[in-house]
Amino acid sequence: MEFPVLTVNPAKIETACLVVPVFKDGDLLPAADKLDDASERLIGQLLDRGDFEPSLGNVQLIPFAPGLGAERLLLVGLGERAKCGESQLIKALDAAFDAIAKLPLDDVAATFTDVPVGERDTAWKARVTLEAAHRACYRFDEFKSEPAPAPRLSSLTLLVGDEDQAAQAELGARVGAAVGEGVSLTRTLGNLPGNVCTPRYLADQAQRLADGADGALNVEILDEDALEALGANALLAVGQGSAEPSRLIVMEYRGAEDPEEAPHILVGKGITFDSGGISLKPGAGMDEMKFDMCGAASVFGTMKTVLALKPRINVIGVVASAENMPDGRAIKPGDIVKTLKGLNVEILNTDAEGRMVLCDALSYVERFKPASVVDIATLTGAAIIALGHHASGLLSNDDDLALDLLDAGENAWDRAWHLPLWDEYQSQLDSNFADLAHIGGRPAGTITAACFLSRFADAYPWAHLDIAGTAWASGDKKGASGRPVGLLTQYLLDRETEAAETRPSVE
Ligand code: BES
Ligand code: MN
Ligand code: ZN
Repeated sequence: MEFPVLTVNPAKIETACLVVPVFKDGDLLPAADKLDDASERLIGQLLDRGDFEPSLGNVQLIPFAPGLGAERLLLVGLGERAKCGESQLIKALDAAFDAIAKLPLDDVAATFTDVPVGERDTAWKARVTLEAAHRACYRFDEFKSEPAPAPRLSSLTLLVGDEDQAAQAELGARVGAAVGEGVSLTRTLGNLPGNVCTPRYLADQAQRLADGADGALNVEILDEDALEALGANALLAVGQGSAEPSRLIVMEYRGAEDPEEAPHILVGKGITFDSGGISLKPGAGMDEMKFDMCGAASVFGTMKTVLALKPRINVIGVVASAENMPDGRAIKPGDIVKTLKGLNVEILNTDAEGRMVLCDALSYVERFKPASVVDIATLTGAAIIALGHHASGLLSNDDDLALDLLDAGENAWDRAWHLPLWDEYQSQLDSNFADLAHIGGRPAGTITAACFLSRFADAYPWAHLDIAGTAWASGDKKGASGRPVGLLTQYLLDRETEAAETRPSVE
């Protein structure tokens, strides 16, 4: 999608549709006011007569626009001015672009950077505008014999007040478009069924990203023989009951001036289907366990975004992928497995497979001497009980890293919430038979899962994002959300800014 930024008078812009946000109370926003002046008070009259109700998310198409360069207007309600925060702007954006995606429009122009939202600047508003447009135009219909017509939108012009804002809007829109593309990839990988999206399919996906990256991405795939030679028995244990072979996928992007600069590493849980294994899950809703690779999908999506934005830092994406199935060869409760780190783990429930694949991946990445490691996983149902579907769970062995991730989530409006990783919880993993048990009973299930991972992540600053509640939606909107690509991208961009600030200047 193109996203030209213009400072022209909105009354003059020639576009198939001009999108105009309107508050319920007070004066029209500056752009809407100019349109009103040029059109014999078209907007003002619609409001005065009660023909348009600007409640939050209400949209109305005006199929003509006398006196204006635009062929149509789309009015978008913002609700009350005093209540307009980030969620409200994003809700209005979603409503607007959902309406646009249904219309046969190739190019639209929007004036959302006018909307006052706390301290948010033009770059931020441009970013969320582009993200919303991509979200609305996303379709997953490759398995529909007769798909509905695809949205046609290919150009979104951002109208801003002055040159200063234009420069900001361009920066923000560039990030928003790149995040939008990354989110779409993450959603598609998540939505693909388990019989298509297997560990080998994900490995091919990494190769495809590298093929399109002009040498900017190096991919290494570890197959089962390589994993066995390495001693990654915990990862292998999960897939041993499946007909699909497991994979460890490594994608290296070296954007820093010094290719040896310590990388930031993202590690994704890539269980392409989680039946629970011998500790079989109940049947109802089990189809949703195809989404158990959404952590991995967010790593792919973020790598795609990174390849578009080319930050001057080193980033490594790692995906630990297996299918968790019941079988005569499958792992059983009570089995003891020696991990890559050398610790023996007692498997008490084969449905706690995510931490098994992740623990070996966390040991594997020590070799890169990382600046930070963030793992992303649909790890525990308990995260949904604790936080519902709005915040991802965040646990870390490093308070600075936790704060950086919280900030990034707040900024990207893809928020996380910090849970405690206190030593007191660790004893829930004591085992009578091995070095540690891999589950800690019902209390604080999200925390004890992170406690397990922390035993394998003691060599670097590490954080864990439990996205069980945020990676996909159920019900009639069932589908992957693309979270937390926004958070992860912002985290990496912030590291680039930080590296630029601390780099000794060459004189
Ligand atoms: N993938 C699931 C977690 C999950 C469940 C995510 C439902 C989203 C929705 C994970 O592998 C799992 O099964 N975890 C178990 C752990 C338990 C056996 C300690 C869980 O949460 O019940
Ligand atoms: Mn499971
Ligand atoms: Zn799982």
